[in-house]
Amino acid sequence: MVFLRGLVGYWACMNGLALGYVINSPASELQHVFFSPSRFSDSLGSLLGISKRPSDPIVPPGLEDWIQEQRRISFGYLLDNIAPNGANAKDAAPGSVIASPSKHAPNYYYQWVRDAAITMGDVVEAYANSGDEKYKHIIDAYADIQGALQNTFNPSGGYTTGGLGEPKFQVDGAPFTENWARPQRDGPALRALTLISYLRALNESDPSAVDNQWLSRLYDAKLPTNSIIKADLEYISHTWNMTGFDLWEEITDLHFFTAIVQRKALVEGRDLAHALNDPEAAHWYDSQQLALKDFLARSFWNKKEGRLNAYLESPFRSGADCALLLGALHGGQEDLFPPWADEILASLEALASDFSTRYPVNQMTPPFYREEERLRGVGIGRYPEDRYDGVGLSEGHPWFLCTSSASNVLYNTIERYVEQGYFEINDINLRFFNHIRDGKAIKGKYTMGDYAFGDYLVDMFKYADSFLNVIRWHATSDGHLSEQFNRYSGFQRGAKQLTWSHGSYLGAAIDRDAAMDALQESGVVA
Ligand code: NOJ
Ligand code: NOJ
Repeated sequence: MVFLRGLVGYWACMNGLALGYVINSPASELQHVFFSPSRFSDSLGSLLGISKRPSDPIVPPGLEDWIQEQRRISFGYLLDNIAPNGANAKDAAPGSVIASPSKHAPNYYYQWVRDAAITMGDVVEAYANSGDEKYKHIIDAYADIQGALQNTFNPSGGYTTGGLGEPKFQVDGAPFTENWARPQRDGPALRALTLISYLRALNESDPSAVDNQWLSRLYDAKLPTNSIIKADLEYISHTWNMTGFDLWEEITDLHFFTAIVQRKALVEGRDLAHALNDPEAAHWYDSQQLALKDFLARSFWNKKEGRLNAYLESPFRSGADCALLLGALHGGQEDLFPPWADEILASLEALASDFSTRYPVNQMTPPFYREEERLRGVGIGRYPEDRYDGVGLSEGHPWFLCTSSASNVLYNTIERYVEQGYFEINDINLRFFNHIRDGKAIKGKYTMGDYAFGDYLVDMFKYADSFLNVIRWHATSDGHLSEQFNRYSGFQRGAKQLTWSHGSYLGAAIDRDAAMDALQESGVVA
């Protein structure tokens, strides 16, 4: 299972390169609200004459090579699972994203609204960074089929009667009519977020493509609406307080992940409605995002455990769940549970500690990169009580996408700390910092320029990388990633070439670059 890769050259991934396409001007009116998230300024590092850390390299050379190579490979595998050009999706309807090429044990040869939206988010990011038309074609086809799925009567209902909560469809777009955990209310939110970010990317790279006809397919200011994004926003804003199944398709409740992605969709939907001259809708979405914000802020904190809960009241569950990390990554915002929120770091620590002893594979030291024990990442599962083994119910295993999500949260946190120029160790996040400091973290404020500031951030970066190193250990030599890896042996199991496994790895690797840039620009590392 353990393969040592030959040294490969540094692969600059297509996504990471600023390809320098020309942004067409004049800017359209949309541009006021569709800002691109700012990376911190170049001058930041030069303002700080702070001590560099000359000691051991922050990233061992072999790991860097693997991370970049896998990033390139994972993006290719992700595209393989999208029709019509993807090698694994030849007979699927154009624009559909298959969850995995696996057709039996398990059969994942379907399109899940959630998996597809998250995956297409990566393609939108590739488009935003490169302006490459081939990505635009893929996303346009995705939008087309999603519009068709919204209008496909299915066991959850019809267009305005709950059908948007249907979690999965056949690859040709037909409804899936067998029993399933339905509805799942996160899908419309994730789809709206992906399409709104597409609109933003397109508006920046090629505003002339955003003509009225094209735009009204995505958003019209009508009620009842005939547009994809507005249909999703209407669904979310009217149903968010109803229970549904969680993203793992197992329990009916109100869920952290579902609520937080719904809230972000409504915030971005409000801005979109505002920009597109739909003030009443903007007002309505705003009122509902505020209600959701209030609900999220008061409902999920588990004071006793010092971390968040992923559900409101499901029995037989502790509430610790990687859905918390995924929620912060896909739905967190500046003002509520972003990845760097103290509560999210505390929850990450709770998960890592639990899985480090629960899954025997985590007691073995991964090869390649021998971190100090305190900075050793582990394979993260969905939640401690999980019994889904990838095919049926026996016992749970670590998941690639959960393991990636831990590193991704940390990369985002590092970037943020540098951007704001300080961080604080407080009662809530202390358990996280104690974890990486062997119980010796000290509460207080750390300011950029202090030696300790850089020291903590370097530890966080190494810790984040060590989760990717776990993935490296269990990836095949040709970079395949299934859904899970065995809790004892580390061998891959569950649906092969899971699209979401590749997408989440890719997201982590991309955000790692931003964290590394931040550390370099701030002078924390050379
Ligand atoms: C299949 C679902 O996709 C998975 O998330 C769930 O754990 C199992 N069914 C439970 O049987
Ligand atoms: C099972 C996972 O629990 C669920 O989140 C996912 O949507 C499906 N598999 C398809 O990948």
